[in-house]
Amino acid sequence: MAQEHVQIFDTTLRDGEQVPGCKLDTKSKLTIAERLDVLGVDIIEAGFPVSSPGDFNSVVEISKIVKNATVCGLTRAVKNDIKVAADALKHAKRPRIHTGIGTSESHIKYKFNSNKDAIIERAIDAVSYAKSFVEDVEFYAEDAGRTDNEFLARVCEAVVKAGATVLNIPDTTGYCLPEEYGAKIKYLKKNVTGIDKVVLSCHCHNDLGLATANSIAGITNGARQIECTINGIGERAGNTSLEEVVMILRQHPYLKLDTKIDSKLLYSTSQMVSDLMGMIVQPNKAIVGTNAFAHSSGIHQDGVIKNRETYEIINPHDVGVTESAIILTARSGRAALAYRAKNIGYELEKLQLDKVYQEFLKLADTQKEITDKDIPTIIKASNIDLA
Ligand code: KIV
Ligand code: ZN
Repeated sequence: MAQEHVQIFDTTLRDGEQVPGCKLDTKSKLTIAERLDVLGVDIIEAGFPVSSPGDFNSVVEISKIVKNATVCGLTRAVKNDIKVAADALKHAKRPRIHTGIGTSESHIKYKFNSNKDAIIERAIDAVSYAKSFVEDVEFYAEDAGRTDNEFLARVCEAVVKAGATVLNIPDTTGYCLPEEYGAKIKYLKKNVTGIDKVVLSCHCHNDLGLATANSIAGITNGARQIECTINGIGERAGNTSLEEVVMILRQHPYLKLDTKIDSKLLYSTSQMVSDLMGMIVQPNKAIVGTNAFAHSSGIHQDGVIKNRETYEIINPHDVGVTESAIILTARSGRAALAYRAKNIGYELEKLQLDKVYQEFLKLADTQKEITDKDIPTIIKASNIDLA
């Protein structure tokens, strides 16, 4: 089945790094950038060069080492930002400048004390100026999620005319519902002259836990780029999680949309970013959390031991996790106990298992989890004859 390509724009090193207390030094950023390139992301947003000399330097060094991906630098719609970004990107094989301005009523009034026409002028000027340095210019309409669609379409049309190659429609505050965000993308596809020459991009924040759902709604309505971070890290409640959107497309082939990501590297990449940022991955995080392939209730364990597919929609190997885990707790049943005992060399017959299980429950009620070390003790306490 022919799959259409959705581009993965990774912003772990820019929006992701805006997490309080998780600043990365240049060396760590280079390690992550190299891994993102091998992982197969299409675009690496390496930083916001004008923001600090350290960030400028990171973008320069990342531009030198990235082999395949486009390297992108963020700017405001400010001439000096754009010039500095162009400078930082000069070693990149495929440079992209990402420039933009707030377009919602609230941003126009409170951030810029301006009006709609003046905002459009600034957007056009920024894109035209960025085009004087690089061919690939992405424009973001900040707070597009809360911008009325008619004005958003006017802004988009103006910057497409000025030469933008990608239109980023950020739900900056994570406000939209999936239907609303999808309808916004559909509206732009229908009402912006020249839209077919450019790529529409989804950039969704997770304030209401909808970043992934909104990004998927965006691409099923015609967007072809998703901006995301490893582990979904980012400002406030974070950004769209890269591993989630990649696996959603892979597990739903009838959508006929796929990415170039080597999914077998997802788990190790998640661990690498977590270690370098000193930010733990919540255990129940989809795809890469430690519990994502762990089963602890008796009913589920019995099913998974008979056939993994009863309770797992993803093969853990596909995301680089070695195997599903059968966790022993007071909620576990005989099947799980027999399975774990067998793994460490105890084949229990039915009557033996009944006895061992009673001992198991006594201990399981007193501790959170039963480990491999506890199993021989439990077997001994149950006084069974082992051949
Ligand atoms: O969330 C946002 O609007 C952004 C832009 C700067 C692209 O991160
Ligand atoms: Zn953002």
